[in-house]
Amino acid sequence: MADFDIRGVREDFPILSKKIEGNQLVYFDNAATSQRPRQVIDGIKYFYENINANPIRSIHRLAEEANEAYESARGKIAKFINAYPDEIVFVKNATEAINLVSFALPFDKGDHILTTYLEHHSNLIPWLRLRDKGVGVDLVDIDQNFELDMGGFNSVSEGTKLVAFTHGSNVTGTITDAERISKLAHDSGAMVLIDAAQTVPHMKIDVKKINPDFLAFSGHKMLGPFGIGVLYVNRRVFGREKPFLTGGEMISNVKMDSIKYADMPGFFEAGTQNIEGAYGLGLAVDYLNSIGMDRIAAHDKELTDYLYDGVKGIDGVHIYSGRSHERGPILSFTVKNAHSHDVAYLLNKKGIAVRSGFQCAQPLVEDKLHAVGGTARASLYLYNTQEEIDRFLSELKNITKMYG
Ligand SMILES: Cc1ncc(COP(=O)(O)O)c(C=O)c1O
Repeated sequence: MADFDIRGVREDFPILSKKIEGNQLVYFDNAATSQRPRQVIDGIKYFYENINANPIRSIHRLAEEANEAYESARGKIAKFINAYPDEIVFVKNATEAINLVSFALPFDKGDHILTTYLEHHSNLIPWLRLRDKGVGVDLVDIDQNFELDMGGFNSVSEGTKLVAFTHGSNVTGTITDAERISKLAHDSGAMVLIDAAQTVPHMKIDVKKINPDFLAFSGHKMLGPFGIGVLYVNRRVFGREKPFLTGGEMISNVKMDSIKYADMPGFFEAGTQNIEGAYGLGLAVDYLNSIGMDRIAAHDKELTDYLYDGVKGIDGVHIYSGRSHERGPILSFTVKNAHSHDVAYLLNKKGIAVRSGFQCAQPLVEDKLHAVGGTARASLYLYNTQEEIDRFLSELKNITKMYG
């Protein structure tokens, strides 16, 4: 049982009382996006009714208040991952954060990047694209437990400029040993980028401990609004990057023959930002803190183990999931003889929302899991319950019977 008032938590999320196809919604698509509590929804309304102005550009009171709201959100997010506020760059989402790094680091012909087969396309395509420039890209494989083959990191060499890997797979739920990989990479002189889109929402992340150069995540997967995400940039790499987008706010002095850029984090925040998004993400962080990340992680783990044990007992279902101590609240599976979209369609008929297909990780799902029709995926969060899992298991049993 959750170590917090889960009924009270559920009441904070208005959408959970919605009915789908006449059934109470069971929302198991949290890895795609989370739901938002009233505190965030109302907070955004409050922002527009009380604070709205373009910060920085004006010195009137409202602009000052908007600036304070924006910077205070930055401070909250920095504290949440144990970073300094100037290491927090607001971006649109994890995808933009990773792309930013791929444009801002000066990659040249002959450079080498190491990434892995466990990646979401967001942490794969930006690196594969650099092959056009003559940059070499290698991939670390996975083993039979859907964990990274740590031996693959031995190919980090002096020519390796960056090691880019996920902290949590959105397909298998595998949690990688980010601290160890980060150390291995740094020992060989490589920089480290971590895709933490699936872990920051679910566990305590300490960037001082994991020690990446860059870490990316999205607000919408952690109770925050759409359109706001974070790129953490370690202070030790300030100044090594080229600008990404240029224009207003990212400069400190402009002459026709010389440009002086702003310091971090303004250097990477060109133009008017998503102020209300940052404010809303700050409120989401307040909400997560009010429950406690350790309690959320324990709840996620208990529910995921329960889900895993239940699904394991159903004939005709194949599970693609990391081992208990190495997985986040994600379970991918296939039903014998059924396409993953059909499984999701049938579950939806009973009000249960799951993801299906390649989960934006086609090389992993197709080449490594050999799930040619994709996988279905149930992903959980703090407001999910055992009763919801029981409903899911009962419907999944019916589906397997239908497909013989
Ligand atoms: C592991 C992982 N990385 C990156 C992303 C990309 O997130 P976004 O679409 O918010 O940029 C996702 C989204 O599902 C993800 O699961």
